[in-house]
Amino acid sequence: MLILMLDLFVKSVTWEAEGVHSYDLRAPDLSPLPPASAGAHIDLVLPQGLTRSYSLLNAPGETRRYWVAVQKDPQSRGGSAWIHQQLKVGDRVQVQAPRNHFALVDSPAPVVLIAGGIGVTPLVAMAAQLNQRQTPWVMHYSARTRARAAFIDHLQNLQAASGGLGQLHLNFDQEPGGKMLDLAAIVNAAPVDAHFYACGPAPMLAAYQAAASQRPAEQVHWEHFSAAPAAPPAGGFQVHLARSARSFTVAPGASILDTLLDNGVSVSYSCMEGVCGACETRVISGEVDHKDLILTPAEQAQNKTMMICCSGCKGAELTLDL
Ligand code: FES
Repeated sequence: MLILMLDLFVKSVTWEAEGVHSYDLRAPDLSPLPPASAGAHIDLVLPQGLTRSYSLLNAPGETRRYWVAVQKDPQSRGGSAWIHQQLKVGDRVQVQAPRNHFALVDSPAPVVLIAGGIGVTPLVAMAAQLNQRQTPWVMHYSARTRARAAFIDHLQNLQAASGGLGQLHLNFDQEPGGKMLDLAAIVNAAPVDAHFYACGPAPMLAAYQAAASQRPAEQVHWEHFSAAPAAPPAGGFQVHLARSARSFTVAPGASILDTLLDNGVSVSYSCMEGVCGACETRVISGEVDHKDLILTPAEQAQNKTMMICCSGCKGAELTLDL
């Protein structure tokens, strides 16, 4: 997969909520950036070799900047902590151009947006795109406390600009009297043709999937921003790289990505846990054991691509377009 790399600079850093900063990234000559639709993300390539994915907050069509938010993760392995502490106004940063695995379906049907914490970021862009389309939307945004909820003002502005088509509902589950979102009630109150989009922590998404299980699968969408700990890949198979005519044994407990990196093969990757799509690779032959959280069950069944950071092989051999 050809990935377009961009050399951008940090125009501004803004405190958005407790533990959340936003970064306004621009081209050095302020030229327009490749456009993105709502739900897209960019990858920041950090100096220590880490790559981290962040959803764009930009309204679609806004190409003068990429606007992302970074929540400092107390368990940070160097990504969010480094960005918060080291990335300053005027610094240069390498960015992989936007990709979108969480796009709005092209439909006039009403939309329900369900956000948990920093998972609100792709849904901010979606609310803006729905305003542009004049599609009715309702957002349920839950955070632990108001102080930890970023972009409330921005979302209220989007609601005000919707001409009555947008509704914002806030929920703070750790404030006095607070409760978790009643996802079953939210789903049951939505029109039968509504599309649902959710982004948040894994337990919230599991509850959402259960609550929406009676709705048609093509109307229920979600994006993880991190994965639950997964079982190690099965390993114990051969991987063949068709274009470079090389073959490797993927050992039990190792991933294809680890194996390729250990052998000096240059491949694109970011999250290493099956949630960002950076390592998506075309499959030429062999049956994939899909473990990612991006491809739909139908896409997984097609066996055309795989995420090599987490998925394995059901048989003895796999041939990839690398
Ligand atoms: S590196 Fe993110 S899905 Fe594989």
